[in-house]
Amino acid sequence: MKSLEEINKYWHKANKCEIKKTATRPVFGDGNSKSKIIFIGEAPGKEEDLSGKPFVGRSGKFLSEMLSLIKLKREDVYITNTVKYRPPNNRDPKPEEIKECMNWLFEEINFINPELIVFLGRHSLNIFFPKEKISESHGKLLHKNLEGVNTKNFLALYHPAAALYNVGMKETLIKDFKKIPKILEKL
Ligand code: URA
Repeated sequence: MKSLEEINKYWHKANKCEIKKTATRPVFGDGNSKSKIIFIGEAPGKEEDLSGKPFVGRSGKFLSEMLSLIKLKREDVYITNTVKYRPPNNRDPKPEEIKECMNWLFEEINFINPELIVFLGRHSLNIFFPKEKISESHGKLLHKNLEGVNTKNFLALYHPAAALYNVGMKETLIKDFKKIPKILEKL
């Protein structure tokens, strides 16, 4: 079996995204590779592009705060993104960019082999559940047998960046986030 480093090296080399050319560096997943839970965000922002680590900017700080509410540190969990390169000016990743990074993400997920996949925002949700709306499916445990992915349990959450500027959404995100320990216990 390939190591995580080998997986990242292989897919970074093979990737043909336009955003690979404009990004400073790839931002690989980070954290505990033996974690039972993996968080999948959208795409690296400015600070992630500079540091090479996912979720180190404002949304990352908020994510760490929410993890501490459920007695976890970011080093305890595994955090990655739908696309591994920063889109220029933080625009949304394009469908073809998400597709180009998809097998990379699937191989990464199967390496970690978590019991629960948590989507941070609609982009990662829609890779696995193209018809689901984040406004309707957030906070609900979803199940699906997907070809190429071993994990069968999924939880969608609002993206921390969206919730930072919307009080109602922030409350909902925190409420949904606090469901994680019970969900993990039952799996
Ligand atoms: N937002 C994301 O979706 N991912 C990051 O790594 C940082 C901000």
